[in-house]
Parts: sequence; C-alpha cells; structure tokens
Amino acid sequence: MDEGERSYLDAGAQRDDAIDPRTSFRESAAVSDPTVYERFTETWPDAWRRAAACLEWDRDPQTVLGGEPPAYEWFPDGRLNAAVNCVDRHVETRPNQLAVRWVGRRGEQRSYTYADLSRAVNAAAAGLRELGVDAGDVVTLYLPMIPELPVAMLACARLGAVHNVVFAGLSAEALAARLDAADSTVLITCDGYYRRGDAFNQKSRADTARVRSEVDLAATVVVDRLGDALEVSLGPDEVDYGALCASHEGTTVDPVTRRATDRLFVMYTSGTTGQPTGVEHTTGGYLSHVAWTTRTVLDVRPTDTYFCAADIGWVTGHSYGVYGPLAVGTTVLMDEGFSDTPDRIAERIDRHDVTVFYTSPTTIRSLVKRGAAALEEYDCSSIRLLGTVGESITPETWHWYRDHVGDGETPVVDTWWQTETGAILLATLPGVTPMKPGAVGPPLPGIDALVVDEDGDPVDPGEPGVLTLTAPWPGMCRGRHAGDDRTRTGDDRTRETDWVETDDGWRYRTGDRAVVDEDGYVRILGRVDDVLKASGTRFSVGTLEAAIVGVDGVVEAAAVTDDRGAIVAYVVTRSDGRPRADHREAIAAAVETDVVAAAVPDQIVFTTDLPKTRSGKVMRRLLADVARDEALGDVSALRNPEIVGEIASAVREDASTPE
Ligand code: PRX
Repeated sequence: MDEGERSYLDAGAQRDDAIDPRTSFRESAAVSDPTVYERFTETWPDAWRRAAACLEWDRDPQTVLGGEPPAYEWFPDGRLNAAVNCVDRHVETRPNQLAVRWVGRRGEQRSYTYADLSRAVNAAAAGLRELGVDAGDVVTLYLPMIPELPVAMLACARLGAVHNVVFAGLSAEALAARLDAADSTVLITCDGYYRRGDAFNQKSRADTARVRSEVDLAATVVVDRLGDALEVSLGPDEVDYGALCASHEGTTVDPVTRRATDRLFVMYTSGTTGQPTGVEHTTGGYLSHVAWTTRTVLDVRPTDTYFCAADIGWVTGHSYGVYGPLAVGTTVLMDEGFSDTPDRIAERIDRHDVTVFYTSPTTIRSLVKRGAAALEEYDCSSIRLLGTVGESITPETWHWYRDHVGDGETPVVDTWWQTETGAILLATLPGVTPMKPGAVGPPLPGIDALVVDEDGDPVDPGEPGVLTLTAPWPGMCRGRHAGDDRTRTGDDRTRETDWVETDDGWRYRTGDRAVVDEDGYVRILGRVDDVLKASGTRFSVGTLEAAIVGVDGVVEAAAVTDDRGAIVAYVVTRSDGRPRADHREAIAAAVETDVVAAAVPDQIVFTTDLPKTRSGKVMRRLLADVARDEALGDVSALRNPEIVGEIASAVREDASTPE
C-alpha cells in the first residue's frame, strides 16, 4: 500500500457512521424489504427472474443461467425485442406520456411522447431497412446529444441490428478505428453541432474517418442538426436522415425477435493498451439488469422526470440515459448543452422539475466550485433521489451534493459499475440500505464481490486489494475484442482477460483497487492498470501521453490525476527556447484531437526529466503523490531521485505563477 492509500484509509476511519434512508422515502421505495438480500442468496441464480420480469418477452426464459463458465449465458432460451420493451409496451398503456424532453444548445425544445417516439423509431427503422440493414448488422452512430441518437439506437434494436455509438467528441481516427473494428454496415452522423457556441463541422470529421476506414459502408446517413448554420453537401452514397425518415412516415416495422444472448450493442472503450476494446452487450441479460437497477437503485418510475447527465456516447448514457429509463417507461430529460455548463444544474432541475438526477463526481465538484449561493435562486425541491457514478466521491462532496442539490435528507446512491459490467453492481438500495458517504456500498442483492491480494487470496476488512466478482450477473458483457481482433469471438477474449479460474471457481477481475469494511461496504481506491478517468470519461494513459509526445518539441510526458480527479501532465520539452504557453496550447489541441476533450490536462508541469526506476520505468505513483501534495513514497528505487524535489517545486511554482 502506498502513502496515498494509507492516508485515504486513515481518513476513512474517522468518517460518519452509516446514514439510514429517510422514512418517507423507504415507505414508497421500489424495494423496502431488507430480506431482499437473503432471498437473492437463497435462490440464486433463480432470484434474477425478478429482473427478467421487468421486461416483456416474446418467449419467456425457462433457464436463468446457462453456458460454460466464464462464457455464461443469461436467460438463454428467452426471446425479446429491446425496442418493444422501451417503446411499444408503453404506447399501449400511456401513449401520451412524455418519453423524451430534449433541450438544445440554443434553447430549442423538442418533446416526444411514447407515441411520438414510436413513430420516429418506426420511420427510422424502415429507412435503415431500405438501406439494407438486417438483424445482426452493425450500424455506427456518430452523433451528439440530439433526439436522433436514441431514436436511431432504438431503430437498430427494432431491426435486431447492433449499434455501435461513437462519442461525438472523438476524433476521425477514433471513428475510423471503430468503424473497422465493428465491421460496420452503415454510418449515421450529422452535419455538425454547436460546440462552445460555434458551429462545429462533424461531417468533415466523419468524411476523414471514412477515407481512413477500410470497411465498405452501404450508406452514410446525415442528420441535419444545424440547418442554415452549416451547409454541407451530400455525396452519392450519402442519405439525408430527415428525408429518409419522411419517406417512411407512418410505416410500422415489425420488431425482430432476438435471442436473449444476441448482441444489442457494442461499445468501444479504452483498455490498457491504447487499442479500443469492443464490449458487446446482450439483449436479454443486459436489458433485464439495467431495467431492474433503474427501478431498484435509482428508484425511477413512470411518474418521474429523470435526468442522467452522462452523454449517450458512453455506457452510462446507454444504460441509464436510454435503455433503463425507457424500459421503465419514465420521462427522460436530454440536455444537449449540459457538458458546456454542468455547473448550471440547479437551473435545469428547477425548470423541468427533475425528480431523479444521476451524474458524476466531476459535475458535483463543478457545482461545489461555483458555490452554494449560486444554487439558492433555484428551487430543487422536486428532487427525491440523487445518484453518482464513474469516480470515487469524497464524503465532503457527497454531503455537499445531498445538502445543496438535495434537501439534506435526500437519498444519495453511489453506484459502482463498468462498461463491461453493463449495469450497476455495487450500491445501496435507497429504501433499504444505510448509506456511508465515500463508500459505494455493499454488492447489490445477487452480486458477490471479494477483495483479494495479488495472489488472489481474500484480504481482511480494512486492507486494500483488488476488487473481484465471484459470480456472474445478467448485465455482464458477452465478450470483448480488441480493435485489431475482429476475427476472434468476444467470448474467447473474455475468457483470457477478465475471468480467471481459481480453486473456488471463476472470478471476474474488475481492474479496480478497493477496500471493504466490516459491514461489507466497498470503497474504491482507483485503477490497478493504466486507465485514467476524468469527467466520467475513460481513456488509457498511454494514448494521452502519446498525444502529448506527438507535439513538436515535446520529448517525454507522464499523466496522473490529483485527489480531485483533475489531470496533471508532467512534460519534458526540448530546450528550443519556445515559450511554454505555445506548448500548452499545442498540447491541449493535440489531446483534444487525438484523444477527447475531457482528457486535456488541467495542469501541465514542465520539468527537465521524469522520475524513473533503474530499468527506466516512469514512476507514476510518485508523480501522483506530488500532484496530490501528499507525503512522497520511497524514492530509493529511482535512478534519478533528485528530480522529485525539482518536480515538486515546479508544481508549486506553476500553481502560484500563471503565465
Ligand atoms: O474505476 C471504476 C470507476 O470507473 C470505472 C469504469 O469506467 P467506465 O467503464 O467508463 O464506466 C463508467 C460508468 C460506470 C471503474 O472500473 N468507477 C465507476 N463507478 C465508480 C467508480 N469509481 C468509484 N466510485 C464509483 N461509484
């Protein structure tokens, strides 16, 4: 354990005791019976039928868990269609209920009732079918936060096609790699979108990606987001989305029934190698698990106005911005401009009477920074539950969130999960389980977690180790494949990388360090590998550092996060006399283009060297200690221990003297 972890754990020992759910919430919560944990244990895996029962099936699953470990198969003989579950069944009962309320960056508003959503999804599905999209084909979506994105996802689901959403802020290279890796049939993109007030040309980025990509697309469909603000011309194999849908207005497309184990989508995420990894999710297991947790952890019900602040381009937006809430049949607020002004959340809650709000600690920290006074003029009393995801939240920030966005007694669920897990696995049940600020909570009913040491042996409570899961769960991905590895099935890859067989059975390695307390509550300490998280976005340290080193004049770079999740980059430049401000700008631009805007370092510290072991490995842990202003660990293994003091004073200097 390093010094940073030790001081974190010591601080944890002084934290608050458990906080009980408020009585009024408990009385109406989706789950309020504490025996739910035992019932799941006693009847596992059958207990997971409860999750399957959140859905409407074409053929009810008889088997709950099948397949050969670790290629588990959930509800393998069940059949269903995801779009029917997220749209059609609500149209039957509540056609006029709002499904999606969209607010654009220029204040535009569009609302879709479930009946409207059904019409839009059917027309888009008919359009895609006309372009030749069939069950099992992959459609890549490169769209910002506009209603056409969830509509296109659901249109794919209706046809049994697999969507591959690429976050709109990713570069042309990233899109090309994902088009190829997923073996895409069709690309849906847009002319452009507003980015920090300017009309940004997304189409030209998509064009570049198509030139670099090796797949032979049947068509590229282009949504007109900007109207007259940006004129783009369409090539012969390009189709206008609006015209395509208009030509199928009123058409009903029969939903294609899928096996529960068929792919619903693939999502590429950063692994340790820098190669994007395709994570494949299933139709039945995934959808059951997200619907169940939307209901039981986020406590969302049809009468809510629910706001998930994550971009649909990432897994949180898939599971809890689209599939979970629409499966539950609630009203979803979708806000295109949220990422520009996350600190104005109170305004949105007030204006739309948001009842359940789910976001990341990064957003909450931006609110804290702006100050409680900025919230006072708004009325957030509609909020009845708050959620957080993506990074650890400190108890101070947790309380601030509860006191200022909530009313001081609002339940807060800190939810742990990953792109690979599909849905929430560790969290409190808001009507049952006491909350411990800073800890994500115990495993949910039906989930088994174990913190182990490097040899795989369980560690004692209070001792840090690696978080593993000892039983499968319905939302687990059915496979992963690296970008260059299209020929191998996902299941083979999963078998080799994520799951390990031990004397006690199979275990899934999460890649997170964690510590569990006497009550079984888990605190997440960070990643064991070289994956960085910032603004809820995940990318590999290697990719970020490569982008920085690609800047002319930069020799070496190492990136870490500080205790607030901000990215600090240590950069060695050739002494060419160029002012550092130039380098800063070039680095920011390179990272934004090659990686993603969220990866742009918050602080760049110029130094003459990086601390290295005798074998030449950069000691990132030490750099993290410097960034966190913590006691430095042992430097005796370093080839150049003197550099550490130099870097520490450069950090202090950098903090006090803006250029
Ligand atoms: O390190 C954990 C962190 O986010 C990682 C998963 O990232 P991603 O696949 O992008 O999914 C993000 C949305 C689920 C995890 O391995 N993480 C996620 N939730 C938490 C968290 N760290 C601390 N507390 C959490 N609640």
